[in-house]
Amino acid sequence: MSYETILVEQRDAVTLVTFNRPQALNALNKQVLKDLIDAFAAYDADPAQRCLVLTGSEKAFAAGADIKEMSEKPSVDFFLEDFFAEWTSRVTATRKPWIAAVSGFALGGGCEVAMMADFILAADTAKFGQPEIKLGVAPGMGGSQRLTRAVGKAKAMEMCLTGRMMDAAEAERSGLVARVVPAADLLDEALKSAAAIAAMPPVAAMINKEMVNLAFEGGLSQAILIERRLFQILTSTEDRTEGMKAFVEKRPGLWKGR
Ligand code: CAA
Repeated sequence: MSYETILVEQRDAVTLVTFNRPQALNALNKQVLKDLIDAFAAYDADPAQRCLVLTGSEKAFAAGADIKEMSEKPSVDFFLEDFFAEWTSRVTATRKPWIAAVSGFALGGGCEVAMMADFILAADTAKFGQPEIKLGVAPGMGGSQRLTRAVGKAKAMEMCLTGRMMDAAEAERSGLVARVVPAADLLDEALKSAAAIAAMPPVAAMINKEMVNLAFEGGLSQAILIERRLFQILTSTEDRTEGMKAFVEKRPGLWKGR
């Protein structure tokens, strides 16, 4: 099957999808998103395919949602179309593993697509960012949530508020990417990882993916509620009474373990 804005090839059990809109640094317009949905659905439905690699060009994985396409769009249409909803839900519903192999710019929606992958392999030239604030908007494909969970509040907040880019070394240090490799080796390394995953028992691969995502995607408000309840339960222990009393009396606490 051929597509307008992406190239898709199968290498044994690995599907390789390459963005192919170099004139716009692989900006994600409607057609790219449609092509990706179709390619990911075909991959997920094909039992012979066991892992997928999504990559871009040397200069850009993807420079974000297509600003030219969005610039004239009436605000209410973003809402009425539930802009990005179908795309994000369809791609993140992919049950089989996939890897983002990022070289060059992964900005805005490009960074968000990379973060939807099960993991990111980065070339040493990779640059990640959420510069939407400079356009008077904010991430719209889950970026504020996934970035914060990946790199923590401080860096995510700084990146979203200033629009600054994170280079590959910082991205690896911060836990955004699994590994950094020389740019010339990126595709080989990604295909090697994908082949290793493709050789695993496929059901176990799907379940391992689901388990890790469960840890990553659990709700923060629920976790905070559980934390608060556990704190309240702890106040019923004798050690809590002793601990607070000892503090007031300026002496070490004597613990009973109950
Ligand atoms: N949308 C549409 N076109 C884009 C684009 C985008 N996101 N990014 C780059 N392009 C186009 C440029 O307009 C240019 O086209 P023309 O030659 O026709 O003018 C071409 O790609 C090459 O880009 P530059 O000349 O700008 O290349 P550069 O090397 O000087 O700069 C860059 C590279 C820093 C990535 C710069 O292109 C840039 O800042 N791009 C926009 C990044 C951005 O703001 N992304 C967020 C988009 S909003 C979003 O993604 C919303 C969301 O959360 C879902």
